[in-house]
This record gives sequence, structure tokens and C-alpha cells, in this order.
Amino acid sequence: MTLTLAEVAAEAADCTKCGLAEGRRQVVFGMGNPSADLMFVGEGPGSEEDKQGLPFVGRSGKLLDRLMAEEIGLTRDSCYIANVVKCRPPDNRDPKPDEIDACRPWLEQQVELIAPRVVVTLGNFSSKLLLDTKTGITRLRGQSYPMPNADAVIIPTYHPAAVLRGGGLQEAQMRSDLVRARMAMSE
Ligand code: URA
Repeated sequence: MTLTLAEVAAEAADCTKCGLAEGRRQVVFGMGNPSADLMFVGEGPGSEEDKQGLPFVGRSGKLLDRLMAEEIGLTRDSCYIANVVKCRPPDNRDPKPDEIDACRPWLEQQVELIAPRVVVTLGNFSSKLLLDTKTGITRLRGQSYPMPNADAVIIPTYHPAAVLRGGGLQEAQMRSDLVRARMAMSE
């Protein structure tokens, strides 16, 4: 029997498949429209996300909301937002390969159940994972790719935290990636 997204989220809420379970306040499974055409995938929850139980609710999230509205004309409720790892890595360190492996089935179930047409990967971790590549985001971004094992396209772009650090050029590039996502949705 196929589970609904809400049922998968309820299962994930008690997940202890990796060590991140010990340091989290709560699992940040994802949020948005369970049948969205557009899905964003980030890296992992930070401190604010861990507190609120929602993805991208800190500074990076504010930027993501703004660029999504300005370039695609969508709000976070009409798309779906998730992360590679669902629990906050301590001190906001990068997720480790074994944590990514352990968490991967949750993301795979999200993609399967939501069945988005377009997946925007934010930064290195989600782009490398979903495109099954070692190539970094700077080289990957700027084009779209068929998603392996799914009827969707992947549009890799910078992580909004990198845009906050990097400034104007990166923001302009992220905007053009989001325009590409908007166009891919209407194809
Ligand atoms: N950064 C991420 O990658 N994901 C979040 O949910 C918040 C910040």
C-alpha cells in the first residue's frame, strides 16, 4: 500500500537512522503543497528550522521566498520545500556521507509522492545527490538536467546562504536559474 506524504512525515518524525537524531529538537521533514509541480531541495535544517520544525525559515529562507516570488511568481505554500538531511547537523556543520545515505530514502519518497515536474536543487549537497555527480554547483548551474529515475527536470542553483555571502553576481545567476525553472514548468 502506498503511504501518503503526511503518513511518511509521521514516520520520519521518530527517525533514528543516524546520529543527527541525538542533537535535533525535531525532524524538519518539509513543507508545502503535496502535489506541487515545483520542489526545492536544500541541504539541512539550521537552528531556526530546528526550532520551528519548518525548512528555510531563517535568513536564507527569506531570500528564497523573495526570489521565488519575484522570478517565478510563487509562494512557498504552492511549491514544496525539503532538505537532503531532515535533522540539524550540530553547529551547522556539513552533513556527513553516512547521514546523507541514511536520510536519502525520505527524500526519495518525497520526490516519488509529490512527483514534481521541476526540482530546483539549492547548493552542492542536493545537486550532487540528486544528479549523482561529483561536479560542483558552480559548474552544474546554468542549465537543466533530466532527473535520474524520475519524470522531472533538475535545475541546480546556488544555495541562498551562498548568495547572501557572495552578493550581486551570484544573486543574478540564481535569479536566472529560477527563470529557467519557471519556463520549465510551463513546457
Ligand atoms: N539551509 C538549508 O539548506 N535548509 C534549510 O532548511 C535552512 C537553511
